[in-house]
Amino acid sequence: MGSEAIVGIGVLATMDDREGTGAGLMALHRDAAVVVEDGRIAWIGPSSQTPETDTRYDAAGAAMIPGFVDSHTHAVFGGDRAAEFDARMSGAPYSAGGIRSTVAATRAATSDELTARTQHLLDEALRQGTTTVEIKSGYGLDVKTERRLLEVAGRFTDEVTFLGAHVVAPEMTSRRAEYVDLVAGPMLAEAAPLARWIDVFCEDGAFDVEETRRILAAGRDAGLGLRVHANQLTQSGAAGLGVELGAASIDHCTFLSDKDVDALAASDTVATFVPGAEFSTRQPYPRIERLREASVTWAIASDCNPGSSFTTSMPFCIALAVRDMGMTPSEAIRAATLGGAQALRRTDVGRIAVGARADLVLLDAPDPVHLAYRPGVPLVSRVWRDGVVAT
Ligand code: NIG
Ligand code: FE
Repeated sequence: MGSEAIVGIGVLATMDDREGTGAGLMALHRDAAVVVEDGRIAWIGPSSQTPETDTRYDAAGAAMIPGFVDSHTHAVFGGDRAAEFDARMSGAPYSAGGIRSTVAATRAATSDELTARTQHLLDEALRQGTTTVEIKSGYGLDVKTERRLLEVAGRFTDEVTFLGAHVVAPEMTSRRAEYVDLVAGPMLAEAAPLARWIDVFCEDGAFDVEETRRILAAGRDAGLGLRVHANQLTQSGAAGLGVELGAASIDHCTFLSDKDVDALAASDTVATFVPGAEFSTRQPYPRIERLREASVTWAIASDCNPGSSFTTSMPFCIALAVRDMGMTPSEAIRAATLGGAQALRRTDVGRIAVGARADLVLLDAPDPVHLAYRPGVPLVSRVWRDGVVAT
């Protein structure tokens, strides 16, 4: 593959503060260069000292960040729910029940159709700088379709999550105990070899804390890491449960109590925010002041799904987190890169460091802060994934 030097980077935001660069939350270098070799970052330093390489690309003073790590998506589904969104914008509330209409459309779609649809969404995400993505199942809710969704997801990423416990399957709503048995038993047995993670939507209208505990424990016994859809619509107790069980991440976190924040601060669990969901459901945005005070690690993800957050755009989510959640631009950009990697327990992505994957995003901007300062503007000008120019 050869070596390539990207020179003339005006501001390089590495997020790599392991050695305490003293260069702020984004660990900035100025007038920098990066050398990429065999898909990895081989050298970082002042542009004037760049070593000889096979090829060279001149960034002409633009800013560079690591590729975004979108640690929470539901990117395999059929149909859309534009009419439901439209009704919500006229005052109808969001509820977990809408998930079942996507289940019907997803079951009716072939795996090839689902693959093409997911590819389209991930191409869209890549053009906006996303180079690592997690994908959940959860719109199948029977053994056969959940399996199909996990297989489709696995064509795109290793970060595959089994979400059979999204809601109780439509044909089993009067038999919920039986559905929990199915998810924690035969469905999990089929899913576990195809997934890295298990997730449960713990909420009114989905699964309660005890059901969630049982399903997550079964997933853990099957070798899966844990994630939880927690405290999206209420203070459900899911956040505390996720921390207690050692989940890698609890996601949504729209309604966290002080106790939840303290528990997070004393744990390795990441709090993942999905402000696209607050945008699209007109829920109040969570605020981060208490988490900042308590030094909780947090991430931002898109939650891309047809119901509560139909966006693939991490820059959009960054802008929302800055405007409506109280994050500084540096905090939000770090949360969308390094934070996402931490939520997936990955150290090879989300930062620009020697040995890390060469997933790099060049911005049509002199400073990464423009991602929030210029909302809605397509600022991603070039993306390298595994060291290869991807868009
Ligand atoms: O993360 N909260 C549960 N699941 C999705 C929404 C799913 C849907 O409405 O289709 C979410 O927001
Ligand atoms: Fe979600």
